Amino acid sequence: MKRKLLSAILCIAMAATMLVGCSSKGTDTADEGTTTTEDTTDEAAPAEANGYKVGVAMPTQSSERWINDGANMKAKLEELGYKVEMQYAEDDVQAQVSQIENLIANGADCLVVAAVDSSALVNVLAQAKQNNIPVIAYDRLLMDTDAVSYYATFDNKGVGTAIGNYIVETKDLEAAKAAGESYTIEFFMGSPDDNNALFLYNGVMEVLQPYLDDGTLVCKSGRTSFEETCILRWSQETAQQNAENYLSGFYADDKLDIACSAFDGFAYGIKAALEGAGYTAEDWPLITGQDAELMAVKNIIAGTQTMSIYKDTRLLADKCVTMVQAVLEGAEPEINDTEQYNNNVLTVPSYLCTPVAVDKDNYEEVIIDGGYYTEEQLAE
Ligand code: BGC
Repeated sequence: MKRKLLSAILCIAMAATMLVGCSSKGTDTADEGTTTTEDTTDEAAPAEANGYKVGVAMPTQSSERWINDGANMKAKLEELGYKVEMQYAEDDVQAQVSQIENLIANGADCLVVAAVDSSALVNVLAQAKQNNIPVIAYDRLLMDTDAVSYYATFDNKGVGTAIGNYIVETKDLEAAKAAGESYTIEFFMGSPDDNNALFLYNGVMEVLQPYLDDGTLVCKSGRTSFEETCILRWSQETAQQNAENYLSGFYADDKLDIACSAFDGFAYGIKAALEGAGYTAEDWPLITGQDAELMAVKNIIAGTQTMSIYKDTRLLADKCVTMVQAVLEGAEPEINDTEQYNNNVLTVPSYLCTPVAVDKDNYEEVIIDGGYYTEEQLAE
């Protein structure tokens, strides 16, 4: 009896939701209260609203790249007439779950999700699926779920091989090997709950492992596995602590020559640790990074970071938007990989953008001429 009553209530509730949902399509051009974290009031209104609402869940504003990602995504979706509700979870897994629940409850027609913890959203994504809300994984793959339709990202293994190749070429490891010389190196890898981090590590090691094996690269801490070098939630503080521990524990006599870091945030922490340990321009190591954040490019110009990986978030947003259009309006999404990204349930059709290594020799051409930052921003 109770069951019947409950299902009757659910049916009425569902019918009501459907009615509300239907009536909003194509007619809802006015402002609807949203809890977007961005002020949208002074942005150009889209030419014509199409009545679809896209919920965007982003991981954190503590790193510049995600702020740019969110802003680009929002602008592109609004240009196409979609209404956007965007949330940032500040690296709090539970907060992101609640935010996605709210996006669903607020009537999102599609979700774009860059996860804090790629495996922690299984239940809330199942809820989206039950409500027929398609989900696009943005930059980070959503693991252990069948509720994801497409994945837009950069070639994450390619990021790792680009970092590895940069080290090989800049330090001329082939010449060092022939001369029987060696360089010291330490590794600072990404978050174990982010599928991208292992891809990056595998790319780095595909290039550098042979040089570790033949002694051209020497890791004095002995920490070379992913498990030993990963840093939870991409924490700059942990990277700094690790660097401090390595420098005091293993580099009292020999200097550190290379800090193989998977993230600009880590590079800032490593820089602070090196300064604390008395390193100067004379013995400053090669430091890698990822994201080409404004601060990182400034550091590259100043010589305290050697390189970064430029990921044009405008391009990523473009590709993601084609996926949103595909799930909402039946358009053809751009896909260029149907093999690499298996989330333990399915292999997700993906678009991989190409990462580009930037350093002091090419940042003007890539970053400034590419319109990513202006000369003025970099000079401030
Ligand atoms: C992204 C990187 C970023 C890192 C930390 C990863 O998922 O692919 O671009 O540096 O998260 O935010």
